[in-house]
Amino acid sequence: MTASWQRTHTAGALRAAHVGQRVTLNGWVHARRDHGGIYFVDLRDRYGITQVVLSEEVTGELRLGPEDVLSVSGQVVARNEANRNAERATGDIELVAESVELLSSSKVPPFEIIDELDTAIETRLRHRYLDLRRMPMLANLEHRSRLITGLRNAFVGQGFTEVETPILTRSTPEGARDYLVPSRVHPGEFYALPQSPQLFKQILMVSGVDKYFQVARCFRDEDLRADRQPEFTQLDMEMSFVEEEDVFAAWEKALGEVFKDVVGVELPLPFPRLSYAEAMERYGSDKPDTRFAMELISMDEWAAGCDFKVFQSVVAGGGRVLGLLIKGGAELSRKQVTALEDVVKTYGAKGLAWWKPASDAQGGGAGPLARFVNGQADHLMEILDAEEGDLAVFVADSQSVARRALGELRVHLGRERGLAKSGSWNFLWVTRFPMFEESAEGGWTALHHPFTAPEDWDMPGDPGSLASRAYDLVLNGWELGSGSIRIHRQDVQARVFELLGIGPQDQQAKFGFLLEALEHGAPPHGGFAVGLDRLVAMTLGLDNIRDVVAFPKTASATDLMCQAPSPVPEKLLREVHVASLAPSADGPAAESAAADGTP
Ligand code: AMO
Ligand code: AMP
Repeated sequence: MTASWQRTHTAGALRAAHVGQRVTLNGWVHARRDHGGIYFVDLRDRYGITQVVLSEEVTGELRLGPEDVLSVSGQVVARNEANRNAERATGDIELVAESVELLSSSKVPPFEIIDELDTAIETRLRHRYLDLRRMPMLANLEHRSRLITGLRNAFVGQGFTEVETPILTRSTPEGARDYLVPSRVHPGEFYALPQSPQLFKQILMVSGVDKYFQVARCFRDEDLRADRQPEFTQLDMEMSFVEEEDVFAAWEKALGEVFKDVVGVELPLPFPRLSYAEAMERYGSDKPDTRFAMELISMDEWAAGCDFKVFQSVVAGGGRVLGLLIKGGAELSRKQVTALEDVVKTYGAKGLAWWKPASDAQGGGAGPLARFVNGQADHLMEILDAEEGDLAVFVADSQSVARRALGELRVHLGRERGLAKSGSWNFLWVTRFPMFEESAEGGWTALHHPFTAPEDWDMPGDPGSLASRAYDLVLNGWELGSGSIRIHRQDVQARVFELLGIGPQDQQAKFGFLLEALEHGAPPHGGFAVGLDRLVAMTLGLDNIRDVVAFPKTASATDLMCQAPSPVPEKLLREVHVASLAPSADGPAAESAAADGTP
């Protein structure tokens, strides 16, 4: 049985072919216009907007306000030529109401439910139910759902099994702080929310699951940015008896299918592969945007023998002189070049030397570097592949500063000069990441995570120069996902822990279960996880993942709608054996936690 008010169609469904039919629509009052005795109401739901014509006889005493919820029954009527709305799918018709029922009334909303909204994000998040009612936001959620369904189907189609792993668990080190949950039954003990399902998926391989995947929620207490939320979703997977190329192939197949079906794009497969070392040398970044070239140019050889003392001494001291060639950049003013210098300085460079090239015959070019070029302009232009009208810029520094500064300048110029073609999808596998990096305290930390296999199981020589079997998937300059071939040998895992400063006792306490599992027939295995929020945002052309998360948190990790986190009554704290050290129970605990929330 359908109630008399229930809809026969959605507000996006009616076309000229429905003219003459009696229908019922349900939806929200989007806009009203009063034409002296006749009301035109735009009735909106998730599917569209239909114009409803209401006479005074039909509305009676009813006063309609914005965002009231109505049921309208009546007849579909063709609009005359002059009143057609070509911009709306339902623009050929209108619904002439015979009865109207107010299903639910609305307070005056704090902002208009329109596509282009200029309201402060705090207000939108506080009333997220209204923000999500806007068409673009509903479309984002719908796209997200389609994309996740597509990936699920793709992995199931390849024989993967979805397995749910625990949310109440032990710490899984992925480089952030844990969110902790106190135990009531075990006084003084805590669960950690998973930073990822990493250890469980590896143990599932020991169990023989062979091909696992999960749409997995992850929790990380870290500094938040446009591409980071404290809880986010991964498409997480793991496979047994594989090497890098098998993992790549599984993802290329899955992403190829989903891009075709959901995004409507035929991806060129396979994706290119680039080693970490080459990515750093050519782009100054481990997540290069390969939609445009403008690669870093090594000037070391020339710089070692040049007359510019700064360059000479940097190379003599083991540093690097790297350059970028900005095609057509000679038109940049001194002020604009200074702005570029400010960019590299924020990444630690001491300056940005520049040269507007011209052949020796033409005077050898202009700019601060010109007087050191004497007679070598033709040679330099060859190294740089430059022509008159270009601008070459240089940074001399330690290799890491020079690469970072010019890598960031490259991205900046790509954006500013519109070099990156929109509508192109440059996926890239970056492989052979280093195994370890030096930590601030002087020891070693794992560049990916401690479960990543070294390229050579014997791990000979200096830990800092060891290559690992970790890889990233990069899309248009964003890190979309990470993974690795894992350590399936107990002895190697113990040695890696040791190198990371985790002694035998600590290893047992924190990872005893993993080490033990590795002694019970662990197959060689590897896997990967893609940040779904990022993938969804990128395929919608959005640069903040907040817009593809239904109920996101602010930069200080608060949910403004339900006001989480929140103080809890003393009694509840006592039950879980927790005492608060915060200045006052109802004080701004969330704010102070965010202020020192560095990972
Ligand atoms: P990793 O820590 O690199 O690897 O995470 C994988 C991907 O998850 C996404 N991501 C995030 N998205 C939104 N908000 C965050 N705070 C956030 N942090 C990470 C990124 C990232 O590339 N267990 C390993 C994977 C593996 O080795 O299989 C892992 O979690 O897109
Ligand atoms: P100076 O001799 O310090 O006035 O610098 C001359 C030019 O070299 C200026 O354009 C500086 O920005 C640039 N410069 C100085 N130090 C460096 C450096 N380490 N790398 C690149 N350019 C530099």
